[in-house]
Amino acid sequence: MSLLAPVLLLLLACNFAAAQEFTYSGFGGGGGGGNPNLTLNGVTELRPDGILRLTNDTSRLMGHAFYPSPLRLLTPSVSGSGNRTNGYTASSFSTAFAFAIVPEYPRLGGHGFAFVAAADRCLPGALPSQYLGLLSAADLGNATNHVFAVEFDTVKDFEFGDIDDNHVAVDLNSLVSNASAPAAPINLKSGDTVLAWVDYDGDAKLLNVSIATTSDGGKKPSAPLISFRVDLAGIFREQMYVGFSASTGLLASSHYLMGWSFKLGAAGAAPPLDVSSLPRLPRPSTADDGRNKTTVVLASVFSAFVALVALAAAGAYAAYRFKNRDVIEPWELDYGPHRFKYPELKRATRGFRDRELLGSGGFGKVYRGVLQGNNNAGNVVAVKRVSHESRQGLREFVAEIASIGRLRHRNLVQLQGWCRRRGDLLLVYDFMPNGSLDMHLFGDGLRAARLTWALRYKILRNVASALLYLHEEWEHVVLHRDVKASNVLLDGDMAGRLGDFGLAKLYEHGANPGTTRVVGTLGYLAPELTRTGKATTAADVFAFGALVLEVVAGRRPIEPREELVLSDWAWERYAAGEEEKVVDARLDGAFDAEEAAVAVKVGLWCSHPVPAARPTMREVARYLDGGDAAEVPPPPPPPPLPPVRSGGVGYDDFVYSFPSSSFERAPVEPHSQTSVATFPFSSLSMRSSHVSV
Ligand SMILES: *[C@@H]1O[C@H](CO)[C@@H](O)[C@H](O)[C@H]1NC(C)=O
Ligand SMILES: *[C@@H]1O[C@H](CO)[C@@H](O)[C@H](O)[C@H]1NC(C)=O
Ligand SMILES: *[C@@H]1O[C@H](CO)[C@@H](O)[C@H](O)[C@H]1NC(C)=O
Ligand SMILES: *[C@@H]1O[C@H](CO)[C@@H](O)[C@H](O)[C@H]1NC(C)=O
Ligand SMILES: *[C@@H]1O[C@H](CO)[C@@H](O)[C@H](O)[C@H]1NC(C)=O
Ligand SMILES: *[C@@H]1O[C@H](CO)[C@@H](O)[C@H](O)[C@H]1NC(C)=O
Repeated sequence: MSLLAPVLLLLLACNFAAAQEFTYSGFGGGGGGGNPNLTLNGVTELRPDGILRLTNDTSRLMGHAFYPSPLRLLTPSVSGSGNRTNGYTASSFSTAFAFAIVPEYPRLGGHGFAFVAAADRCLPGALPSQYLGLLSAADLGNATNHVFAVEFDTVKDFEFGDIDDNHVAVDLNSLVSNASAPAAPINLKSGDTVLAWVDYDGDAKLLNVSIATTSDGGKKPSAPLISFRVDLAGIFREQMYVGFSASTGLLASSHYLMGWSFKLGAAGAAPPLDVSSLPRLPRPSTADDGRNKTTVVLASVFSAFVALVALAAAGAYAAYRFKNRDVIEPWELDYGPHRFKYPELKRATRGFRDRELLGSGGFGKVYRGVLQGNNNAGNVVAVKRVSHESRQGLREFVAEIASIGRLRHRNLVQLQGWCRRRGDLLLVYDFMPNGSLDMHLFGDGLRAARLTWALRYKILRNVASALLYLHEEWEHVVLHRDVKASNVLLDGDMAGRLGDFGLAKLYEHGANPGTTRVVGTLGYLAPELTRTGKATTAADVFAFGALVLEVVAGRRPIEPREELVLSDWAWERYAAGEEEKVVDARLDGAFDAEEAAVAVKVGLWCSHPVPAARPTMREVARYLDGGDAAEVPPPPPPPPLPPVRSGGVGYDDFVYSFPSSSFERAPVEPHSQTSVATFPFSSLSMRSSHVSV
């Protein structure tokens, strides 16, 4: 279908390459008579001053602007004698454009914009955020995309191996860039006008990209920023649309385009843009009139009651602020987009009504909410309400939230924002329609039946990949501290996503200054934690091991009623060479034996009582992804168990257990946490119930 349309056009008109050259010095106004002849979609709009705005600074938007007619970017090769097999050369072209990226908050912006040549100007399936409105996770890297882009990226995205949060890069059918270079000393998100040139020489198969600021007079630098040898004939189709695409994520920038020129058929010859005649972007004012308008509309729409509530909240807030003047740190304002207003969340959850309650656990209650602000109307979210009596702890924690909010991985439950109100912290997450893994494993039989082996194994790989990201792939190490089945949520595609990361830290700064509580859940808690009280990546790995065995066996890590420690039981099966007996009998033998062997070995290895003997998440992810049992080294046998003493001190004394702190609508079924006798390392530290720091 997508093939037919261009062919028809070709037959009917044969003039698709009529415009070999065009210049927009500002869009609209001028000679163009207000109509710039561009195809706009998404949120792109033409401002009266002739500046094209691809996105504004609202989160999760995307916008496109394309030259309306397709251009002939492939030409049949003339070399040889009529050999038409693969006989196409990518045409030379040259383009220059002027743009500005204005972040909503100075220094923080996202995600950037791109010059793009694509076979389809609708860019089907494209997503905002890190995908820049070009592609999506589903078609990333697919050769059928026919997408060539030069990105001006203002977010360092680890998923795509970005070099920094201010770079220029060449993308071929993917967002994992084929060539990139830091834009520094030019700051792409400074709000200043930046000039860029993209030149492709089809004979030399050389692509050059240059940038400059208007303060250097807007002259093209003599040496390009990127010079990349590439044959675009492998990417282009015979006719391509050229234009621009931009997107925003949680943090947002407005992306503007002031001018654009293009010439087909010659490298380096795009008509120069006259900087002085381009429309000028008014310097961003702090009082955004668009926003004031929104407030006026809101105020007139909502009844006096809401106004009263807001007034009361504002009054209380003012009083609160007066009492604690240091509460709003300057950086909190910087991270403004994350901050929801309390009335907004209250409205979304219908006043935290019990009917909207999805679950409750150690960290607080979780409500389903439907946002109603005009930016994100209809967005379904999960709102977690965390109460905390210690203001000191809360302050540090909110600082931490700011960094957690920047974590981005497809297997993490995305934190959309937060709101802070007295001792309450409200965390807003993406809503996970399929509930928690725990619920599927141990809920009713129907759910368990849906959890096929393939699904279980995929979910384990998902969680491994999320933990690997937290441990090794982000700017700094993030410990999860409470990996367990009820913290693994399932999204609409039944992919596993890890939730509640970083939350356990809140409980470390307990009400009792000078003491630290060990946080975690019995059965997932690494033995050394009770001794040292110090969370480590190895302790997360231990918890992951318990999760792996739990998912494979369909049994909880510790079954007090049966006096069963799952890892001991699994080890016995494994040592007897019967690892397939570890697999959940409810699967009725319907599982991949090779994958099961990998999972059992990895699970046992991670469950090793000595932290140094456990693998890293990188190794774990590699073995799970490989799916080859022969590749996984045999897990080292655990040291002999110390003699079991029946405990004098209850576990409750030093373990906070959060049985179900997930986002799903589920009956809360606390794990019993009192049976100590079966826990193999219970005797190690029964006396040191609080570990001082
Ligand atoms: C816009 O389109 C009209 C007719 O389709 C054409 O005459 C004009 O040159 C175009 N302008 C630009 C800037 O391409
Ligand atoms: C940004 O654009 C979107 C879509 O056009 C609109 O809903 C939103 O109100 C705009 N935001 C601002 C701050 O102007
Ligand atoms: C035509 O070109 C292809 C690839 O460039 C080559 O493999 C093939 O041998 C050529 N055929 C002739 C008849 O030249
Ligand atoms: C690439 O896209 C085509 C067409 O959309 C699809 O059939 C194919 O499965 C995709 N391949 C991959 C690896 O995503
Ligand atoms: C671009 O990168 C992708 C993967 O990163 C690779 O598969 C592809 O071959 C590269 N293309 C070129 C022309 O270097
Ligand atoms: C690209 O840059 C190189 C210098 O690095 C230059 O020799 C070449 O002519 C340039 N090509 C184009 C198409 O601008």
